[in-house]
Amino acid sequence: MSIIVSPSLLAADFMNLGKEVEMVNRSEADWIHLDIMDGVFVPNISYGLPVVSQIKKIARKPLDVHLMIVQPERYVEEFHKAGADILTVHLEASTHLHRTVQQIKKLGMQAGIALNPHTPVSQLEDIIQDTDVVLIMSVNPGFGGQSFIPHALEKVKKLRTLIQCSQSNARIEIDGGVNFETGRQLIEAGADALVAGSFVFKSEYPEETIRELKKL
Ligand code: DX5
Ligand code: ZN
Repeated sequence: MSIIVSPSLLAADFMNLGKEVEMVNRSEADWIHLDIMDGVFVPNISYGLPVVSQIKKIARKPLDVHLMIVQPERYVEEFHKAGADILTVHLEASTHLHRTVQQIKKLGMQAGIALNPHTPVSQLEDIIQDTDVVLIMSVNPGFGGQSFIPHALEKVKKLRTLIQCSQSNARIEIDGGVNFETGRQLIEAGADALVAGSFVFKSEYPEETIRELKKL
């Protein structure tokens, strides 16, 4: 099975967002990654619900929504209405994470749990069977274009072992600093899905870059 590629629109040209989404539609990308930031959980603000629902109108790939907001449980229903297919919340941001995950799945979305670089994979032990996706952050969330933190590779390996031992079906997705080199290393370590922002949208031929990422 080939790797899932989820281009992050954070690095897209916002003045031409429709065209950028069309490019992802035409490409071999599997999902469209949308980064929602509240300026509290992370030191940046991106875009919100109205943008997600507009994108949904033209997107022909599942929307992979990454919530970098405090108390994400407050917005699960809203993001479902806006068109999220995969809804990922940060473990560090939701006190009753089990309840939040159930809330997401009950609405028919896939539930994702994101881990900041400092959060150990072992914290997933009692929730791994309930989750569809684990998003390992390989940069500190908040900004695109940062350098890959190599320790993420160790986390991917540990997570792969945890998934196997617990007979979970969770996918391992990685976000931050993904390029051909780090992407290759991540796949070798056991990743299933790669998010790529700058590497795709700042490249000369984004569709081609996506195609090459799929081949890694
Ligand atoms: C960072 C976001 C990422 C970001 C990745 O907080 O979660 O999805 O767009 O950007 P790159 O691929 O440029 O590191
Ligand atoms: Zn993201």
